Amino acid sequence: MTDSLTVRDNRTGAEYEIPITDGTIKAADLGQIKLNDDEPGLATYDPGFVNTASCRSAITYIDGDKGILEYRGYPIEQLAEKSNFLEVAYLLIHGDLPSKEQYEAWVHEITFHTFVHENVKGFMQGFRYDAHPMGMLMASVGALSTFYPESSKIADPDNRHIQIVRMIAKMPTLGAWAFRHAQGKPYVYPDNELSYAENFLSMLFKMSETKYSGDPRIVKALDTLFILHADHEQNCSTNAVRSVGSSQVDPYSAVAAGIGALFGPLHGGANEAVLKMLRRIGTVENIPAFIEGVKNGEERLMGFGHRVYKNFDPRAKIIKKACDDVFEVTGVNPLLAVAKELERIALEDEYFVKRKLYPNVDFYSGLIYEALEFPPEMFTVLFAIGRAPGWLAQWLELVQDKEQKIARPKQIYTGPRTLDFVPAEERWA
Ligand code: CMC
Repeated sequence: MTDSLTVRDNRTGAEYEIPITDGTIKAADLGQIKLNDDEPGLATYDPGFVNTASCRSAITYIDGDKGILEYRGYPIEQLAEKSNFLEVAYLLIHGDLPSKEQYEAWVHEITFHTFVHENVKGFMQGFRYDAHPMGMLMASVGALSTFYPESSKIADPDNRHIQIVRMIAKMPTLGAWAFRHAQGKPYVYPDNELSYAENFLSMLFKMSETKYSGDPRIVKALDTLFILHADHEQNCSTNAVRSVGSSQVDPYSAVAAGIGALFGPLHGGANEAVLKMLRRIGTVENIPAFIEGVKNGEERLMGFGHRVYKNFDPRAKIIKKACDDVFEVTGVNPLLAVAKELERIALEDEYFVKRKLYPNVDFYSGLIYEALEFPPEMFTVLFAIGRAPGWLAQWLELVQDKEQKIARPKQIYTGPRTLDFVPAEERWA
């Protein structure tokens, strides 16, 4: 067997031998296929990167048909059950699990970089009373680049490390303050004696008590949700981080771009959309009419379907279990019955079966977040905090990858050519 592709151009009769490596061909190799030397040669057209690899990566492995998700080779199920978010963050960033000393040093570093400059607080207070917390998070993460101008020295490994630590450490502070802002409540400073997830809950919910203490089951569920969201290879927001990062800008600007991508309803914004959808459906009796609307193309069943998973989303299975743990503390969210019935009906319906549409990570996460008293606008912020180590691991891999170039796709130009410009006063006469 030869690892190559023989291509015959039927326009010219010419044949080309193109090497196959790792199940891919280099798109640039197609450039040699041309009608004559004056033209640019053959390219591929792939809106949405449906079948185009943009990088080599050793971070996250997904087998969408088998429902497998692994971070650095470790199955998500084992990490969710036996690890914790900061250990998983270490694994993603460093490529390996930490020794005891490495783990303690890492937790200490993250824990002691949770505070932000007071002017960041002033900056956040300037947002309108009803500002969306995702917009506030995106802007404040981007603003951090102005507080750490040395972050632009991306070729320096020590400098890269400290910015990564800062970003993972400060995201909960910024996210919590965005939440408090909408409620008109004073911002709560970090408590560095608490764990990552518990400190976040403290900054969200602490009022006049001297020390916040969260229910361990809630703390664990939140930590698990962060683990499940920590990375997902080349999704829309990671692609945004890599694309912007490929210009060699600082990591705060690159991650701010990722937060923007995650904000959209087809990506991280889906859990917010799921909850709004469940509220709109309201009761189990209304489900059949809603499903009909989806099949007629009038609606979309949010929280269903995935570009990669065509069998099941392993994260959705783990979240269902976390739902039970949280509801044990908070009482069952009445929308759970609507979600379960919706899932049951959809999984039996030919429309969804034929298209391989299954619940994704966002289908149940919103119900947990609501039980934890988060308004829907905060759901994507929680996703972003969990995803930060993944974005940063991908950014780190990108900036050290000798094969990477500035992201600059081609286009197929469809507009007019060589028009003669007529000045405004003549056109409007
Ligand atoms: N409800 C109804 N129909 C759907 C849905 C859905 N949720 N998802 C896909 N379809 C249909 C789609 O209309 C198309 O049908 P047809 O072949 O008749 O035109 C077919 O299934 C294939 O869908 P697609 O849009 O080509 O698939 P895609 O890979 O481009 O989109 C997706 C993936 C996740 C954007 C899409 O499934 C979707 O919009 N789902 C709802 C939003 C959502 O839950 N997003 C969260 C994704 S998981 C978390 C994350 O990564 O952020």
